[in-house]
Amino acid sequence: MKTIGVLTSGGDAPGMNPAIRAVARTAAQQNCRVVGINNGYDGIFDGNIEELSNRSLASIIDRGGTILQSSRCKRMYSPEGVDAARARLVELGIQGLVVIGGDGSLTGARELARRGTPVVGIPASIDNDLFGTEMAIGVDTATNTIMQLVDRIRDTARSHRRCFLIEVMGRNSGYLALATAISSGASVAVIPEFRYNMENIVSLLHKRYEEYRGNSIVMLAEGVCGAEAFMERMQEAVPGGEFEQEIRITVLGHVQRGGVPTHFDRMLGARFGELAVMGLLQQETGCMTALAKGRTTLIDLDQVIGKKKHPAPEILRLARNLKVEFGDTVEL
Ligand code: F6P
Repeated sequence: MKTIGVLTSGGDAPGMNPAIRAVARTAAQQNCRVVGINNGYDGIFDGNIEELSNRSLASIIDRGGTILQSSRCKRMYSPEGVDAARARLVELGIQGLVVIGGDGSLTGARELARRGTPVVGIPASIDNDLFGTEMAIGVDTATNTIMQLVDRIRDTARSHRRCFLIEVMGRNSGYLALATAISSGASVAVIPEFRYNMENIVSLLHKRYEEYRGNSIVMLAEGVCGAEAFMERMQEAVPGGEFEQEIRITVLGHVQRGGVPTHFDRMLGARFGELAVMGLLQQETGCMTALAKGRTTLIDLDQVIGKKKHPAPEILRLARNLKVEFGDTVEL
């Protein structure tokens, strides 16, 4: 294999740049040419590629986002589009591909691999919703960012004895809400994987306020519903009609996706980037780098795509034992 292409696709995640750097450095070390494909899969169709020189890789290890830029490429949704992408890769002289992204991006990677393009995927999504890997690139930085922001919110929550409803990202996954509820000491995590019990939530918040005039933090995953809608449902469930305690809403939004990657995400990016290239050079294809029991490995994309990642039993037990209310025992 003489030329390897690397692209980032879907929502950016802190740690993508360290992964790009590791792909490029490892490829160079193995005497391969490496090109960056700009703007996700769109860059394949548009022939938007660039040589990844030492210069372009300088000073990217500590930068969030992705220097290659990203997109959600609609052209990859159809079989004809994937065929066209494959043909375009051949024209561009790219013999192997590293795709860094989330579920949708890795679905495209699998389709290309099925048509004969050697492809290795790298899981990157702050949602941590990819089956088959304990962690994806970006999750650690995002959870740290959320935790620090919740710490700040708690200062004002304490001062006013308020309840804060904090909406975090996670389209189909409650990982960010549940993990940061534990690390921030929140009372409730509302996540899409479990049916919430509004009666329990309301009585818990009421009790905290009545008994110690205390503040409370409720972490809400965006995949459940918007914060305004959830607050209305909370109010409706209060026996008297209205919460005695003041409630404020904070929607954290895209600040969760940006920022300097943590040590963990830089290491994960480096480990996954290096392994992806070594895998391609050993004729591995149609697979994804993964973290399993703390070790990196390659896993077939057929075992990943279309599978729902459920919260790990240990984290659920931890939440229960630490009294984070996250719903009935009914898993959805
Ligand atoms: O998949 C990552 C993610 O950040 C989700 O948590 C969120 O729902 C989505 O991307 C937002 O996407 P966009 O930046 O395109 O609005």
